[in-house]
Amino acid sequence: MTDISIKIEDLYYEYPDGYEALRGIDLTLYKGESLGIVGANGAGKSTLLLQLTGINYPSKGKIEVNSMEINKKNLAQIRKDIGFVFQNPEDQLFTTSIYEDVAFGPKNYKLSKEEVDKRVNEALEKVGILDLKDRAPYRLSGGQQNLAAIATAISMNPSIIIMDEPTAALDPRARRRLINLLNSFEYTKIIASHDLDMILDTCKRTIVLKDGKIVADGSTKDILLDEKLMDECNLELPLSCQKRNFD
Ligand SMILES: Nc1ncnc2c1ncn2[C@@H]1O[C@H](COP(=O)(O)OP(=O)(O)O)[C@@H](O)[C@H]1O
Ligand SMILES: [Mg+2]
Repeated sequence: MTDISIKIEDLYYEYPDGYEALRGIDLTLYKGESLGIVGANGAGKSTLLLQLTGINYPSKGKIEVNSMEINKKNLAQIRKDIGFVFQNPEDQLFTTSIYEDVAFGPKNYKLSKEEVDKRVNEALEKVGILDLKDRAPYRLSGGQQNLAAIATAISMNPSIIIMDEPTAALDPRARRRLINLLNSFEYTKIIASHDLDMILDTCKRTIVLKDGKIVADGSTKDILLDEKLMDECNLELPLSCQKRNFD
């Protein structure tokens, strides 16, 4: 066993319409690392995350997850190792109760009824919404839906958790709760976001994407506080680090 969680080599991805959204990505992520992915709109953040789910396959290059290449043969195992939280909870919550949504993955892998029950309760407990298990997802607040989506992702006991813009729909209190939850997780974490303050609070390492390429990779503080780099990538310093002028 190596302690590499994800290895991406010379990855290119072209959408069916011919647009090349990823252009030579190289990235090695070690177990337990927390990686932020930042970049302006259209930089390729979501495209890169989707490559890790096997929803789309690389046009060139390869991706290994826990030493297994992502291909049709390994996909079922890799999907157990990766918990993916989509940007929009509605893509993840589609049954009539939170319990059934979180049970969906474990049931799909044909775990026993008792094991499914155990997984669902553990996942809901971990994100702090066990009391919502019989509620209908569409009646919940944005923050509650977000936590439920995370529960569906961790009910398979993954080693890696991937989130696309997790704070986009959250009010400040739900956002703070999410940050604390993410910091309590021991999974390898990958979080793509425009919320640079959240990345600063949750990720030790950050990469910056620009036009489908990694243009910087280093400690989150060094990267997000680099005013020149942020400006070149059409980003701004995290709010907590900006000099304010109240005059
Ligand atoms: N289904 C698609 N077909 C063609 N181009 C796409 C598709 N989805 C995204 N793109 C393009 O790929 C680029 C990267 O998009 P995306 O990964 O969504 O960026 P980000 O998440 O960083 O905002 C953008 O230029 C976008 O227009
Ligand atoms: Mg995106």
